[in-house]
Amino acid sequence: MEATKLLSLSKASLRKLAAEHGVELITDEEKIKEFKENREKEWHKNLTDKLFQKKMRFFDSISLWSGDEKIEFTFNDWDAAKQKDVQQAKDIGNQCFSLAKKMLTDNFNVVLMGKPGTGKTSLALAMLDAVHKKNKTTMFASTMAFSLLLKKSFNDKNAKFQVEKVSSAMKRADVLLLDDFGTEGGMNSSPVYDELQNRFFDIADARIVKDKNTGKRLKSTILTTNNSFEQFREMYNEKILSRLIPHKAEQIVAFKNMEDVR
Ligand SMILES: Nc1ncnc2c1ncn2[C@@H]1O[C@H](COP(=O)(O)OP(=O)(O)OP(=O)(O)O)[C@@H](O)[C@H]1O
Ligand SMILES: [Mg+2]
Repeated sequence: MEATKLLSLSKASLRKLAAEHGVELITDEEKIKEFKENREKEWHKNLTDKLFQKKMRFFDSISLWSGDEKIEFTFNDWDAAKQKDVQQAKDIGNQCFSLAKKMLTDNFNVVLMGKPGTGKTSLALAMLDAVHKKNKTTMFASTMAFSLLLKKSFNDKNAKFQVEKVSSAMKRADVLLLDDFGTEGGMNSSPVYDELQNRFFDIADARIVKDKNTGKRLKSTILTTNNSFEQFREMYNEKILSRLIPHKAEQIVAFKNMEDVR
């Protein structure tokens, strides 16, 4: 039946028609209000979910993966038995899990430090996965890939455009993973070239922005590295490090006694 005809029916006829079709007709005003409110909430949630998925598709596409391929790792994939010191591997996994949980309500920086092949990138990815599941936008940026793109941009227009796009996204993602921070300093941890220092300063500075009303930080940044803080100081200006290195011991995840399982 056409909607206009339906509207012209009396309540009794409508109820009868609905019953004939096995539909329960809500006539109670309170119930109608509740029904409308629930429908609106559902509509709002659907829209928010769709927008979030769209944003995440963007952050995934702009992410700079090492080796150009998206890598995924979850806390379920963390196998402490891969390490000789199983307890320490469990503790490290738990520390990262707690930090990811805390990141749902607070924003701060985290650094995962240790030797190659010990699982730093994997656990950092698990943290991204955990916060992403709670609707936080995440981005992966291999600092080496970023540095290569930046160098290319010095005489390539497309790369220049891409650098701007990537940098802007790196400022905006709720949680940014700067993977293998420090590799750009090379084997001898030499001072990093000015253009990269300037980019990182710009990004790191944007990421410590605070909410005007609550005074709480709005973004979190996770670093993985093979370097020590001393080596960082040889490579980077202290203004950058002050904005990237966590100030609390619990936010520093040391992969001590962990072995290369690659
Ligand atoms: N505890 C673990 N459980 C399951 N897989 C692991 C574990 N530790 C490492 N791996 C696997 O080993 C490989 C190396 O790990 P990953 O890339 O996380 O190391 P990394 O510490 O980031 O190394 P690098 O410093 O060289 O970047 C990956 O394939 C990863 O999935
Ligand atoms: Mg790594």
